[in-house]
Amino acid sequence: MPDWKTVDFFNDESLVDDPYPYFDELRSVCPVLPLPHLGVVAVTGYDEATEVYRDAETFSSCNSAVGPFAPFPVPLDGDDVSGIIDRYRDLIPLHEHMITMDPPAHTRERELLMRLLTPRRLRENESFIWRLADQQIDEFIDNGSCEFIGEYAKPFAMLAVADVLGVPEADHQRFREGFGPGGNLGQIGDGEQDDGESNPLGWLDAEFTRYIEDRRREPRNDVLTSLAQATYPDGSTPEVIAVVRVSTFLFAAGQETTAVLLASTLKYLAENPEAQDELRKHPELIPDLIEETLRVESPVKADFRLARRATTIGDVEIAAGTPVMLLNGAANRDPRRFECPAEVRIDRKNVRQHISFGRGIHSCPGGPLARVEGRISLERILARTRDIRLSEEHHGSPDSRRFTYAPSWMQRGLTELHLVFTPVGGDQ
Ligand code: HEM
Repeated sequence: MPDWKTVDFFNDESLVDDPYPYFDELRSVCPVLPLPHLGVVAVTGYDEATEVYRDAETFSSCNSAVGPFAPFPVPLDGDDVSGIIDRYRDLIPLHEHMITMDPPAHTRERELLMRLLTPRRLRENESFIWRLADQQIDEFIDNGSCEFIGEYAKPFAMLAVADVLGVPEADHQRFREGFGPGGNLGQIGDGEQDDGESNPLGWLDAEFTRYIEDRRREPRNDVLTSLAQATYPDGSTPEVIAVVRVSTFLFAAGQETTAVLLASTLKYLAENPEAQDELRKHPELIPDLIEETLRVESPVKADFRLARRATTIGDVEIAAGTPVMLLNGAANRDPRRFECPAEVRIDRKNVRQHISFGRGIHSCPGGPLARVEGRISLERILARTRDIRLSEEHHGSPDSRRFTYAPSWMQRGLTELHLVFTPVGGDQ
C-alpha cells in the first residue's frame, strides 16, 4: 500500500480493485483530510460525512457529479464563493439535473419528482417487479449458468425504472435494445459531459418527449398521463423538457447503482453458501443482507460538495471553494460507528444506518425502489436455485479469485459476475 501522501485518488488504478486499505489509512490519519491533489479534502468519518450532507447551506451540490473537475473559468477566491457558483454553474456537467442543484431550484425539481414517485406508484410497481424477476430468471435458468450483470441485473434495474414511469410493456423491448451494448449508459459523473451529441441517453430524451407531448395532447388513463400532467407545487405546469429530464435522470441514477448492488449481493452469496441456506430458510432476513451489502460495498464510493464559505468539518478548517469529497465507501466502514466494519453481519443493531443513499435534501429518492428490487430479486433467485457458485472458469479457484471493477473514482461495481447454479428441479 503506497503512502497516502503520494497516492492520486483520481488516477491510481490500484485503488479500483480494493480502495478500502487506502480509505482506512486516510481515516486513521484524520477523518477529514486535505489530499495532495486538486485541493480536495477527503471525508472518511461517518459523523463528519453526515454533517456535510445535512448542511446544504454551507455546502453546494453544484459539483456533486464531477468533484474537483468543475470547470469554473475564474479562481474560487474569497471568503464566500456563492456568487461565482451562481454565475457559472451552467458550465458544470449535469447542471440541468437536480443532483447538482441547490435550493430553491432543487426544491422545485425534487417536489416534482416526488409527485411522480408516490407510495401508490411504488406499490403498483412492486407487483410488476415480481413478474419481471421471474421473466429475467426464465431467460437463463435452464443453462445452469449466467453472466449475472448483463443477463439479469442491468435489464432488470432498467425495466423496473421504466415501469415506475409507466412505459408501456409493449415498448420494453425497445428500451432493452436502447440500453443494450453500444447504447449503454456510462458511469454518471467522472467528468463526463452529459449533453449535446455525446449524450448516450439522447434517444431516451426523444422517447420521453414523445410520450409527454402525446399525453398532453391526448390524455389517457395511464401513468404517463399523470407524468405529463404533474405540476410544480405552485400549480404551474413544467415545460416538457423539465419533465423529460426528471424522468430520464431516473435511469441514469437508478440503473447502474442498483445493478451493482445486486451483483455485490450475489457475489457475497456465491462466496458464502451457508448464508444462502440461511436466507432460503429465512427469506425475511434478505432485507438486512441488502443493507449490509449497501454498507460494505457502497455503490456510490465518492460524492462531492463545494464549500461556499470558510467553515469547519469536525474541527478541521475548510477554505471557501474547497471541493469536499464524501467517501461513502469509507464512512460506511468507520469503526466508530460500525463494529468490525468490514464484516457482513446481518444481525447488526444499526444495519440501516449506512449512508449509501446519502443524507439530507439530496438523499436518494430511489432508495425504496432499490431495496424492493434487491429483496424481490434475491427471494426469487434463491427460491429457483439450489446452490449458487462463482464460475471458476471466469473468476479462478477459491484461493486465487479474480474480479474486475469499473475503473471509476465515483462508483464501485463489478463489471462481470459469472455464476453457476443448480436450478430447482434441475437435479432430479
Ligand atoms: C443501490 C442503488 C442506489 C444507490 C446506492 C443510490 C445512491 C444515491 C446517492 C448517494 C444519492 C445522493 C447524491 C448526493 O447527495 O449528491 C442519490 C441521489 C439520487 N438518486 Fe439514487 N441511488 C440508488 C438507486 C436509485 C434509484 C433506483 C433511483 C431512481 C429510480 C435513484 C434516483 C436518484 C435521484 C433522482 C437522485 C438525486 C436526488 C436529489 O438530488 O435530490 N437512485 N442516490
